[in-house]
Amino acid sequence: MSFQLNSPLDMHLHFREGAMLDLVAPLSAHSFSGGVVMPNLVPPVDDVHRLDAYERQVRAATSPLGFEPYMTLFMRPYTSEELSELRDRIIGVKLYPAGITTHSDQGVKNMDDVADTLRMMEEMEIPLLVHGETQGFVLDREVEFLSTYEQLASRYSKLKIVMEHITTLDALRLLDRYDNLYATVTLQHLMITLDDIAGGLMNPHLFCKPIAKRPEDRDALLSAALAPHPKLMFGSDSAPHPRDKKECCGCAAGVFTAPVALQILVELFAKHNALDALQAFTSDNARRIYGVNPPKKVVEFDNCGDVIPERYGDVIPIFAGQSTSYAITRVDTEL
Ligand code: DOR
Ligand code: ZN
Repeated sequence: MSFQLNSPLDMHLHFREGAMLDLVAPLSAHSFSGGVVMPNLVPPVDDVHRLDAYERQVRAATSPLGFEPYMTLFMRPYTSEELSELRDRIIGVKLYPAGITTHSDQGVKNMDDVADTLRMMEEMEIPLLVHGETQGFVLDREVEFLSTYEQLASRYSKLKIVMEHITTLDALRLLDRYDNLYATVTLQHLMITLDDIAGGLMNPHLFCKPIAKRPEDRDALLSAALAPHPKLMFGSDSAPHPRDKKECCGCAAGVFTAPVALQILVELFAKHNALDALQAFTSDNARRIYGVNPPKKVVEFDNCGDVIPERYGDVIPIFAGQSTSYAITRVDTEL
């Protein structure tokens, strides 16, 4: 059976820089027509010079393939001049609490430090993207952050706030309580629980932040995606790390899913008789929420069976070496 998606979007991904970017960005650009590119580099993308240089690298690696990179800035206190200059070049500003994940040391220590910036973003209609975790017990970090989302959503009621990579039933419930809250969810959080990472033999390639939670959380997220929930968007959080940084003591957080995410999503949605919902989840919701109009790309899938590659260069993808039922059989791009 064949199935098509129009202009799929990945609303949260990590491309890195240099050789890693050259390896992974074309893999996303092959099957997606756009994506929200995260700014957690060293140093972070937090001024016009960094943005210029990074956007140039990203476009060089992706635009021949008909891919629109939606660039982001790393949250710090910005002046109104800076935001006015940059607003048309970014899709949003990404807020990382300081030290919460990979390359977030320069993140926000105290929300009051960015209150003026948030007010200006609200006025200039620049969305806020948030990594919503506290430094608490690992399974409670997202739920502990929900009160911060509530404060942000009510204090800045015109600000569009995207709860990135949600992992809990409680976060889903919050989504329905505030008009200005939206969310992304990853592939892995629709499929796995903490047991898949650490319940048997440790699987570092499934370790990411926020960590996958309980079966009831995973099931609720999956039901919402399959519905499809109109405020939920696909964002892979595909986060490549070289193999030696994953298969070691002190394993880096991040699951690399970009090149296989769509095929696996098609299989997952087909299994639940919900293929009709996949266009909204992987593209239409994001277009409506962000008001973007990505390049036209038609991606065709067939259930002819496939095997997930063992590696891409030095990076190990999710479910490496496992069989999948759907493969991408054609990509038509209008350049
Ligand atoms: O697991 C993660 N990896 N979570 C993040 O928030 C960042 C990402 C990365 O950049 O590696
Ligand atoms: Zn991320």
